Amino acid sequence: MVLPAGEAAIARAAAILGRGGLVAFPTETVYGLGADARSDDAVASIYAAKERPRFNPLIAHVADLAAATREGLFSGDALRLAEAFWPGPLTLVVPFAPSGTVSRLARAGLDSVALRVPAHPVAQALLRVAGHPVAAPSANRSGRVSPTTAAHVLADLDGRVEMIIDGGACPVGVESTIVSCLGEPMVLRPGGVERERLEAVLGRPVATFEGEGGERPVAPGLLTSHYAPKARLRLRAASVEPGEAALDFGGQLAGGGAPAAYADLSPAGDLREAAARLFAALHELDTSSAGVIAVAPIPEEGLGAAINDRLARAAAPRG
Ligand code: TXA
Ligand code: MG
Repeated sequence: MVLPAGEAAIARAAAILGRGGLVAFPTETVYGLGADARSDDAVASIYAAKERPRFNPLIAHVADLAAATREGLFSGDALRLAEAFWPGPLTLVVPFAPSGTVSRLARAGLDSVALRVPAHPVAQALLRVAGHPVAAPSANRSGRVSPTTAAHVLADLDGRVEMIIDGGACPVGVESTIVSCLGEPMVLRPGGVERERLEAVLGRPVATFEGEGGERPVAPGLLTSHYAPKARLRLRAASVEPGEAALDFGGQLAGGGAPAAYADLSPAGDLREAAARLFAALHELDTSSAGVIAVAPIPEEGLGAAINDRLARAAAPRG
């Protein structure tokens, strides 16, 4: 359903988000495919709708700096950038705050969070009425171009999104600039705010990270490094060895021996549910003393591809 932007559409969209549904909405950069960022379950629906082959961390959109500082810890540099460019096409990656509510799946298990305060009046109104962070990648299927009109979204995601708010064409048309403020500020993805303007605010040169970031594949161990459990993962395990913890799917590892800790991503074998629980389950098993987590085989179809991609990265040797 496509509704023209207005109070009725915003109220309806906020209600859909509130019960875990997906809403496409305009921002000044591109249309976003939004879900309640606090819910692993709602966020899993984004990956399912986009058919993303991997779980990249998502940007959490908030209404203002006050909401952002509840989610993330802002250094002096991060604050200067936020004050200069928010609301606007800038995303800041900062350490996740103890008071933060953004779900583990939206953060792809990381201890950091990507935050943006969009300037578009429709996005602003939606965030204020919803009253919670909204995770939103571009509202297109994976591998297709980012949508800058409601018609683009409809063509790509019809039937996969409950509602599209039509707010006309996006004025910026390219995604936000992503700046990591985890250390010395660094551009992870060039976008709507030029590097020169970041440098003018910070009063020094700002590097652009080469080799990963943005939509490009991310190598383990680098800057945007992926969540890696302390325990070693043993993938496609047929059974659990003594002392191992078990990460199950569809009850395949149940009943054999007594694992040090046990979690089933989805006893019913549902891949969307499994995606929603992946990072929380890994985290939980990693707090057990087991040095190895045996992981049941997970089918490579649908969201299984993204789950297996993440598990393979988590299992990769680290240097
Ligand atoms: O313009 C935009 O930014 C659009 C509109 C809808 O706001 N949104 C967008 O979101 O492009 P998304 O979720 O596709 O951007 C995600 C990118 C990831 O690919 C990753 O590079 C970066 O943001 N990112 C998110 N969280 C991160 C983190 N904790 N550490 C490093 N990079 C992160
Ligand atoms: Mg995109």
